[in-house]
Amino acid sequence: MKNKFITVSAPATVANVACGFDAIGFAVNNPCDIVSVGLTNFPGIHIHPIGGAYGSLLSTKAEINTAGVAIQSFLNKTKYKGGVEVNLTKNLPLGSGMGSSAASAAAAVYAINLLFDNLFTAEDLIPFAMEAERIACGTAHADNVAPALLGGFVLIRGYNPLDVVQIPFPENLYCTIVHPHIELRTEDSRKVLPKEISLKNGVTQWSNFAGLISGLTTKNYELIGRSLQDVIVEPVRATLIPGFNEVKQSAINSGVLGCSISGSGPSVFALSTDESIANRAAIAMQQAFANYRLKTDAYLSPININKPQIISNN
Ligand code: HSE
Repeated sequence: MKNKFITVSAPATVANVACGFDAIGFAVNNPCDIVSVGLTNFPGIHIHPIGGAYGSLLSTKAEINTAGVAIQSFLNKTKYKGGVEVNLTKNLPLGSGMGSSAASAAAAVYAINLLFDNLFTAEDLIPFAMEAERIACGTAHADNVAPALLGGFVLIRGYNPLDVVQIPFPENLYCTIVHPHIELRTEDSRKVLPKEISLKNGVTQWSNFAGLISGLTTKNYELIGRSLQDVIVEPVRATLIPGFNEVKQSAINSGVLGCSISGSGPSVFALSTDESIANRAAIAMQQAFANYRLKTDAYLSPININKPQIISNN
């Protein structure tokens, strides 16, 4: 074990991907949270004042900070008796539907695992980061933390036991995420979900989900586009996002393959076959939100195929 700091960045993620509620997500290149972790002789997890655009909104108490919770969950599996120092740069907006809590948790566990000489594989780290999701929203869902840790599209085939599958996808796939400046807590956007669904909607949803997986693996863009439809979750959550229907229509008019809510919202994502369409969609979606007097940020990115990135190691 070495006495040094390791700094890692982990990216935003789009969970659900329209038809795969809690079962699939993918990583994008930006924005990223940055976490620096070092080992100390003083027991406990000490989180320094948090930097970045959204740092002042987060607690430095390790037991309610997603980086702290993920590190504690990791340490519980070791015999380590010392302490941990954490520096966090929070670049992802909170309550945005872009996997903000997951990015900090993923970067944190990836960094501490490096300090422990890769005691675990990246896949083994997922349950530690899931504990952070439990603190953040009450449910230990994996569809943000798994792609944040593994990159690309990741299917959560099962939760008990956890069974994650990396899904191949075509090269020319660009993501547009538009984040309207309202906060929607995942906990709250899960409260509106139906407890039961009709068999008819179930059939439509799992047919679309199978179509999405098939389209991704066979590089069939038309099939991906036809499958990016959510008849269960999007209709209820759309009511929480002002202008959602217009934003989605503006993306579709711009030529994207499909468009839906990113994670639990309020961000909206679209997938396109090329960068110029993704860019055109961003402008149209931002304008549609502006018509509802909402300020926005837009993020454009190919699918991120990387694991968290090591920024420094010394
Ligand atoms: N699958 C989760 C949800 C993702 O939709 O509630 C939260 O970002």
